[in-house]
Amino acid sequence: MITIDFTNMLAPGVSGGISGTDWDRAASLFDRARATFEQRRAAGELGFLDLPKDSALHKQSTDFAKRTRGRFTDVVVLGIGGSALGPIALRTALCKPHWNLLDAGARDMRPRLHVLDNLDPTTIAGLLDRLPLERTLFIVTSKSGGTAETMSQYLVVRQRLDGERLAAKDHIVFVTDPKKGALRPLASAEQIPALDIPANVGGRFSVLAPVGVLPAALIGIDTAGLLSGAADLAERCTTSDLRRNPAGTFAVLQYLADSSAGKHIQVLMPYSDALRDTAAWFVQLWAESLGKRRLSGGGPEQHVGPTPLGALGATDQHSQVQLFMEGPADKTITFITAARKGDVEIPPLHKDVAELAYLGGHSLGEVLDIEQRATAGALAKRGRPNMTMHLDAVDAWHVGGLLMLLEAATIYAGALYDVNPLDQPGVELGKQFTYAMLGRADAAAAKAEWETLPKPDPKYRV
Ligand code: PA5
Repeated sequence: MITIDFTNMLAPGVSGGISGTDWDRAASLFDRARATFEQRRAAGELGFLDLPKDSALHKQSTDFAKRTRGRFTDVVVLGIGGSALGPIALRTALCKPHWNLLDAGARDMRPRLHVLDNLDPTTIAGLLDRLPLERTLFIVTSKSGGTAETMSQYLVVRQRLDGERLAAKDHIVFVTDPKKGALRPLASAEQIPALDIPANVGGRFSVLAPVGVLPAALIGIDTAGLLSGAADLAERCTTSDLRRNPAGTFAVLQYLADSSAGKHIQVLMPYSDALRDTAAWFVQLWAESLGKRRLSGGGPEQHVGPTPLGALGATDQHSQVQLFMEGPADKTITFITAARKGDVEIPPLHKDVAELAYLGGHSLGEVLDIEQRATAGALAKRGRPNMTMHLDAVDAWHVGGLLMLLEAATIYAGALYDVNPLDQPGVELGKQFTYAMLGRADAAAAKAEWETLPKPDPKYRV
């Protein structure tokens, strides 16, 4: 089960929270957002909702994992943005550390998963130099099949494999659009296996496609559980009753907090190391989907969208919480808490030292949970709105459910902000400038535009 307690989001209980009058609008706002959601769904744009029940697509990943079992000690994802953050979030949440011990005799041996989500040559060369290439699989993940960073990584890897006389078809798998992009023709020409990202699933909504599911299956994550939790939440998150719809509730709360209560920064703060990178995944999802130039109604353009921020409890209690408590009152904090299976007792030592004695007899998990409640209460007391999502476990089912909840919430929020949550036109100009500087033949217009920028002036250099 996944629940959200949003008591602390509302005024007057929490003075900076959403006012009663605004919260009274929640149901009608949600109805409007849901109508847009349903239109997009009917138009076939929300492919991510169908991923949990797409057993043929799931099978592409599980079959590949079965076929290659025991062949690889290392799996490397080459990808960026939505093609990397999903696999990273799944690995951090669900990969048991002992799976990756390279004890050749261990029955449960699984390959290590590396995700190269950047172009930093030091990292890439460092990893490639360390890896046993003959026992490494590279997953090249790109929906468009043309992203400069991922294609550059691929070319570097490809040359290394060729140099070692290792066949690409045995060491590379593509995860890409079923038809478009540069990777498909390569796959056909060289018999490189290729798994599908359905055409109607965009990068940041693709974690439950082979983008996340293939690496997860390869390292032994329970992908059936992941998709089953996602299916359950997809059901809950499409219901028309706001009181039973956690995605709708999350989206409406965040929207009202931003648009009516001045809470423009929205923090996601799990109290669980396993969910640390789920916060990073959410930051991209929320930012790239909602931060938009709005051109509706023929009026002047508007620039909208909340700023998402990731944090980790209890670690960031000693870092960002001071800002959340006493800095500008422009934030909501969403905590994520989770029940856990194992815990560690704190031994009752040093009973005569006051700073240590009170801890003995409690457990680490208990202290962590209490600190979360204390932080939520302290924020509420200072008028800082916050809510708590609770997972009954950090397992595949709940993580799949959480990811689906946040994806559906993003679509509702897009409707509330009146923006298209599925596009990202704002990254285009930077890409075009990059192409221009790298000499891509079709970037002449961008090159001309680049030339119009002010040149660096030595007067303004220190
Ligand atoms: O969410 C998105 O669409 C982007 O962040 C993409 O995932 C990112 O730009 C990588 O694109 P691609 O998967 O086409 O290589």
